[in-house]
Amino acid sequence: MASSALQYARLHQARFLDELKALLRIPSVSTDPAHRGDVRKAAETLRDDLTRIGMDNARLVETSTATREGHPLVLADWLHAPGKPTVLVYGHYDVQPPDPLDEWISPPFEPTERNGNIYARGAVDDKGQVVAQVKALESMLATGGLPINVRVVLEGEEEVGGEGIAEFVATNPPELKADFALVSDTELFAPGLPTLCVGLRGMIYSELEVRGAKTDLHSGMYGGAAPNPFVALSQIIAGLKDESGKIQIPGFYDKVIPPSADELAAWASLPFDEEHYRQTEVGSPVLVGEAGYSVLERTWARPTLDVHGIIGGFIGAGAKTVIPAKATAKVSMRLVPAMTPTEAFAQYKAFVEQIAPRGVEVEVRLIHSGEACLIPTDNPYIQAATVALHDVWGKETVFIRSGGSIPIVGDFARHMGLPSVMMGFGLPDDNLHAPNEKFHIANFHLGVESIISFLERVAGL
Ligand code: BES
Ligand code: MN
Ligand code: MN
Repeated sequence: MASSALQYARLHQARFLDELKALLRIPSVSTDPAHRGDVRKAAETLRDDLTRIGMDNARLVETSTATREGHPLVLADWLHAPGKPTVLVYGHYDVQPPDPLDEWISPPFEPTERNGNIYARGAVDDKGQVVAQVKALESMLATGGLPINVRVVLEGEEEVGGEGIAEFVATNPPELKADFALVSDTELFAPGLPTLCVGLRGMIYSELEVRGAKTDLHSGMYGGAAPNPFVALSQIIAGLKDESGKIQIPGFYDKVIPPSADELAAWASLPFDEEHYRQTEVGSPVLVGEAGYSVLERTWARPTLDVHGIIGGFIGAGAKTVIPAKATAKVSMRLVPAMTPTEAFAQYKAFVEQIAPRGVEVEVRLIHSGEACLIPTDNPYIQAATVALHDVWGKETVFIRSGGSIPIVGDFARHMGLPSVMMGFGLPDDNLHAPNEKFHIANFHLGVESIISFLERVAGL
């Protein structure tokens, strides 16, 4: 027999989806100063929802400092289950920018249903999963109360590095005191396959600026004498990796801990078809990357380096003959246990300075960073999660890592001693950070049910 909370969730599915759509209409793009007000509006909407469903102390906590304009945290709690464990429910309400806009079939902030999916920026990353958490809480609060104690923390800066929540968590604040965290910001390994994510990569995100002449110059008059920062930048970027995908930064791999034999064996038995992945998810003629490692190893357990964009010079229509004075690239590296962002950045900066060609000055700036994490699976919360997921999905849970980063998860462990249960409901082809992001609507509803079943299971521990 389904619990009354599960019955409530099934009865109210249509309204739950409508409320998700309302949140998706708010363009809470955290990296864009023009959307500051919208980010706040999304936070206020969630705060008000948490109050409405019966959570206590729903409020915004500012994260701005003298040197940084932050976005607020949304906090709430419900602590009326004496003797029961306390969960810290985490998600993020900010989203990535929606561009390129003309590739969206329906506009990014006009949530649209098509073939069993809801399409919008933030649908799966992470508003859909945050709303699934809130609706799970609502279903339990409306049918007798929560089975365990709950604290909620939602951030609005995850997509820009999560500095605000990191500062807050570093003080181990009493407002977040809990026994474990429930993080819903990851994906299923395959459709219908219940999945817990037990490892994330860390990252350093940088800007690499190359300056040549003191001003832009006529390329006919000065070509042959003046350094070209775009050429220099390209040479530097090309020097960062060799043809086989190996990063050339001295010492970069020194701290890498390889996955255990058990973990590798488990990955080898996951339902993964490299050719299907290449065609349906990547869509390139071949897959690239470090020689000697499988795709899952390369994306989950090896550090990587990518360039996200190059800024400067002439990019208008037609032609302009100029030697630009400067060129800037956005460069990031994904880190794995036990690399540290501080050391990786120092190694990268020193190497760039060493390989910079004659005639230009380079400046390497750190934009944000976060540590990788690996979560032990031998705790009762992970065990309860696998039982609950079996109840809802009818299958054994697989444990995976993800190549993505959620910087605060490592901090939960380091500063607060909290193990995280990363229970997410996205699909590999949900297009996070890309045009036509979607959330499979059935997974939204099964997500609500999974969270209810999980918290009910934890209550029985
Ligand atoms: N939810 C993602 C991370 C993720 C993606 C986990 C796929 C598991 C599977 C998160 O919102 C994200 O995109 N993080 C950024 C973090 C960065 C900006 C610090 C990332 O990974 O690029
Ligand atoms: Mn996310
Ligand atoms: Mn994201």
